[in-house]
Amino acid sequence: MSDDKPHMSGTVPPGDTSQRVGAEVVRERGVDPEELREKLLDAIAAEFTTYYYYTNLRTHLAGEEDYKEITEDARLEDRAHFELVLPRVYELGGKLPNDIRDFADRASCADAYLPDDPSAENILEVLLEAERCAIRTWSEICDMTRDADPRTYDMAQRVLNEEMDHEAWFIELLSKERDGEVNPAGHFVRGEPGEAPYSTNNRFNDSA
Ligand SMILES: [Fe+2]
Ligand SMILES: [Fe+2]
Repeated sequence: MSDDKPHMSGTVPPGDTSQRVGAEVVRERGVDPEELREKLLDAIAAEFTTYYYYTNLRTHLAGEEDYKEITEDARLEDRAHFELVLPRVYELGGKLPNDIRDFADRASCADAYLPDDPSAENILEVLLEAERCAIRTWSEICDMTRDADPRTYDMAQRVLNEEMDHEAWFIELLSKERDGEVNPAGHFVRGEPGEAPYSTNNRFNDSA
């Protein structure tokens, strides 16, 4: 066996816990890990606030059980997106703001407020545009990381898969509600509410 072990040393000294090889390899490949982690924080702040706002939007879809159910899937999957990507922020040397107000303020998408006229049509428009902001956000992160950071890219593309699902769902529902048009997403309900088939964290102790 060769004695040549080129990866046994690098820019981080042995035993140094103040630096992370997992971040330095990203820098070596051309992406600033500090800039990336701040962008990830903005993005997961949007996932977290959207989870909150979708709770309010869903409750106002009273009597529209199909709309409520699909909004619930999107809501729970946004929480899954927050939880999926959060560890990467720490791995890149970042941290959550101590104050949730600071966290909410830095979200990369606008607050998904309940419309003044909370009709189903108006709520579905808010939901659709929130999904579109998420698609743009995660596409940008995919672009940033595709060649430099396979771990973040893997997370971002999994989130993006579900955001594209969500956009298609709300196009279908808004087309029907607002325009009386059939504009299929081609999807059927998730197996469990908020199943997050691409983005869910590994479940531990799942003996069921
Ligand atoms: Fe999301
Ligand atoms: Fe979404």
